[in-house]
Amino acid sequence: MSKKELKVSRIKNGTVIDHIPAGRAMEVLRILKITGKEGFMVLIAMNVYSKKLKGKKDIIKIEGKFLSDKETAAISLVAPTATINIIKDGEVKEKKGVKAPTLVEGILKCPNPVCVSRIERENISSKFIKVSENPLTYKCVYCGTRIEESDIPKYLNM
Ligand code: CTP
Ligand code: ZN
Repeated sequence: MSKKELKVSRIKNGTVIDHIPAGRAMEVLRILKITGKEGFMVLIAMNVYSKKLKGKKDIIKIEGKFLSDKETAAISLVAPTATINIIKDGEVKEKKGVKAPTLVEGILKCPNPVCVSRIERENISSKFIKVSENPLTYKCVYCGTRIEESDIPKYLNM
């Protein structure tokens, strides 16, 4: 291990979300509704050096928690480079990259206040299409309003 790498304790059973873009760990914690008051062990490292990303990254390790599909989809929107590791008995049992979905239904709120998806009595859930991978950009199917990667946390409905 190089001197630049920071060692964060290993966990026994739970989830390690690795390769989060530097500075986005708080957004991931917000999606998972982790405040620290739940009682399970959470290890967070921010702005640590990553060889893979050739720069800084954030890491979150959560003992005793496994992610739902909806949580994983939302994480892929704020941390498209993340790797999700499922740890069982201290071993990495499963490792998967996240991928921002082509179609996102219901998780993002359209920024346009008069979009049909925002009119309550219409009861239409939001629908966004991915129009760019890097930077990640989505476009509302109903009104064409775009959401840029840096604005995604602001419009997440979790
Ligand atoms: N990890 C952990 N507790 C364990 C096992 C692994 O916290 N009991 C963490 C490691 O510290 C690492 C991540 O889970 O941050 C993935 O582990 P591993 O696949 O062993 O590391 P790398 O090979 O570095 O992963 P990658 O190739 O995805 O960078
Ligand atoms: Zn819209």
